[in-house]
Amino acid sequence: MGWKTLDDMDLNDKRVLVRVDINVPVVDGMVTDATRIERIVPTVRDILAAGGKPILLAHFGRPGGERRENLSLKQLVPALETAFGAEVLFSADCVGQEAELAAQELQPGQVLLLENTRFHSAETKNDPNLAAGMAQLGDIYCNDAFSAAHRAHSSTEAIARLLPACAGRLMQAELEALQSALGNPKRPVTAVVGGAKVSTKLELLGNLINKVDNLVIGGGMANTFLVAKGISVGKSLAERDMADTASDILSRAAHSGCNIVLPSDIVVAEKFEANTPHQILPADECPENGMILDAGPDSVAAISDTFSQSKTLIWNGPLGAFELEPFDVATNAAALKAAALTRSGQLISVAGGGDTVAALNASGAAHDFTYISTAGGAFLEWMEGKTLPGVAALET
Ligand code: 3PG
Ligand code: MG
Repeated sequence: MGWKTLDDMDLNDKRVLVRVDINVPVVDGMVTDATRIERIVPTVRDILAAGGKPILLAHFGRPGGERRENLSLKQLVPALETAFGAEVLFSADCVGQEAELAAQELQPGQVLLLENTRFHSAETKNDPNLAAGMAQLGDIYCNDAFSAAHRAHSSTEAIARLLPACAGRLMQAELEALQSALGNPKRPVTAVVGGAKVSTKLELLGNLINKVDNLVIGGGMANTFLVAKGISVGKSLAERDMADTASDILSRAAHSGCNIVLPSDIVVAEKFEANTPHQILPADECPENGMILDAGPDSVAAISDTFSQSKTLIWNGPLGAFELEPFDVATNAAALKAAALTRSGQLISVAGGGDTVAALNASGAAHDFTYISTAGGAFLEWMEGKTLPGVAALET
């Protein structure tokens, strides 16, 4: 595994096509979370500082090959100018005459933003002709979009084979963080996997039990594991038809020496509602009409204890129904424990996934984590042990 970085390229006076992920949330034309924009600033600044001309390639939403004005990247120009402290010009297409002219006329110190690549249906088909049209615009290709690297698209995959290619600063940081968590980690390693469904995270669990020392299972998917152990979970969200699969994961984990941490106590309510009456019960005492909405305090103590004994933590998925108060308690407490251990230098902590990052931000723990990924799907696929096409295409 090796890829070039900006340091390996001669950038002076070169047009650098940078694939970025600026798929940020926008409400009424305002960017509500600029994290992904802020995280590409080092790449853009480094290119400008080296005398290069950054030309940004990006998708926005899922327009399905149609030009949709509400998904035009033009609306991000002001936010990008603020973040870069540089003039950002815009081309209303990512290929063709207008884009070529804009790329030719770009002056040192300026940045060019190209329109949403997904306005072309060829983009998501990894079409080589579209990639060739994009490649016309630059001398060098730099991929800084780790969070879109699980897509084999013209702007992430095919184009990397047409120009001298390298990883941008954010791509480097993401790969290094994940490598330190799952590639060659300091042991013991603990993974937290939460969220609703076992069925969407089967490959993830299967890969992790061979790689990590402890696997904390939380959220709705923990209920499926309780069912697998013959425990009644009342009206809780659980995939009862996945119980055999969950049993199989438990026995494979035992075989590979992976310690599985399931809730020993639970927070139970009758309704899926914020502040609904609830009680704390042992995990095997969920009433018939009860719904498990969070892990209980004994479970949090066990999770905290596991973190204390670990050197590396990788986290994807909340432990409870964190979007409903007070069912965010276990997630918050565990996150703050991980943050404290990280601050004191005892733990390397890496987290990713849209819900996870929202939960860690809400708990106030995120800024103490060693690394917070900008990626959702790509983070998950990396944790599953899959090759990401956008990363593979950079490999030398
Ligand atoms: C994301 O927001 O997760 C990335 O930008 C990828 O978007 P996609 O899931 O539409 O490919
Ligand atoms: Mg996504």
